Amino acid sequence: MRTITFRIQRYDGSRSWFQEYVIPYESGRTVLWALIKIREEQDPTLTFTAACRHAICGSCAVRVNGHSVLACKTSLDELLKVFQTDVLEVTPLSNFPVIRDLVVDWRPKTERLKTVKPWLIPTQAGSAATGFAQSPQEYRRIASPTDCIQCGICSSECEQLAENPRFLDPFILNRAYRFAVDSRDAAPEEHIRPALESDLWKCLHCYQCVTHCPKEIRLDQEIAYLRQQTIRMGETDNPGARHALAFHDDVRNTGRLDEVTLPIKTEGLLRTVTRRLPFAMRLIRTGKVNPLQRPRPVRGIEGIRKIYAHVKEKEGKRQ
Ligand code: FES
Repeated sequence: MRTITFRIQRYDGSRSWFQEYVIPYESGRTVLWALIKIREEQDPTLTFTAACRHAICGSCAVRVNGHSVLACKTSLDELLKVFQTDVLEVTPLSNFPVIRDLVVDWRPKTERLKTVKPWLIPTQAGSAATGFAQSPQEYRRIASPTDCIQCGICSSECEQLAENPRFLDPFILNRAYRFAVDSRDAAPEEHIRPALESDLWKCLHCYQCVTHCPKEIRLDQEIAYLRQQTIRMGETDNPGARHALAFHDDVRNTGRLDEVTLPIKTEGLLRTVTRRLPFAMRLIRTGKVNPLQRPRPVRGIEGIRKIYAHVKEKEGKRQ
């Protein structure tokens, strides 16, 4: 008889260990089915959370073989096929304190969530009497971010958060975005500024939050939008904004990056010299950059400039 072995990380408040449970294989089952079976038939002390069993409440998120998933939505058959094994390791979400076994503590993140004011700050245009009608286009802007079920998978997968506790969890950035783009909101800056002050520009673009999100929310695009808005708010005196603007100007001017001036425009001459000199010398030695030569415009630069002009005209914004 085929069996599946679950190696589950246990934690009792002071001690952590792995415990193995073997259950018979059944096709068409989920990770949550297995966890419930183990708890009901083998070990009533195994602790995890789940409620809706339909990928709605977000409470059953765990890591399986190092990947964060919703236990109720994740097919065992798929996992066994992808990992080519009958042994699955289940651990709690990363980047959260663990309370017991697979249960994590949401309280610190819930407190941080409040910083972006995850609620509507209503405009004068609407009132309880007149309502807050939106056009279909306006609704479409908030439809996807509203799908977030706050399961914590994006936080668990976030590479920046693992190294930098100042960085806001992706799901919190999603909340900032969701209200900042809402046509009924009177104060987008109040949602965006706390994100800027929490290292918004330090997102690494690893896309782990996007690829693991069970609701397929494009957190990368949301973060890009928030960054863009900070520039429009005049918040350009920081390395992230300076880098983005330098990148923008280089591509518009020549169609390629100027590797010599980019770090100087981003970090300033002094910081570049003191922090990047050995790296720069290696680049020069290997011929990657030539400090005496500025990039010449690429063939077809007119087309690139036309795109910039078109976007500028469309958005009516300063490039
Ligand atoms: S039990 Fe609700 S999302 Fe899995």
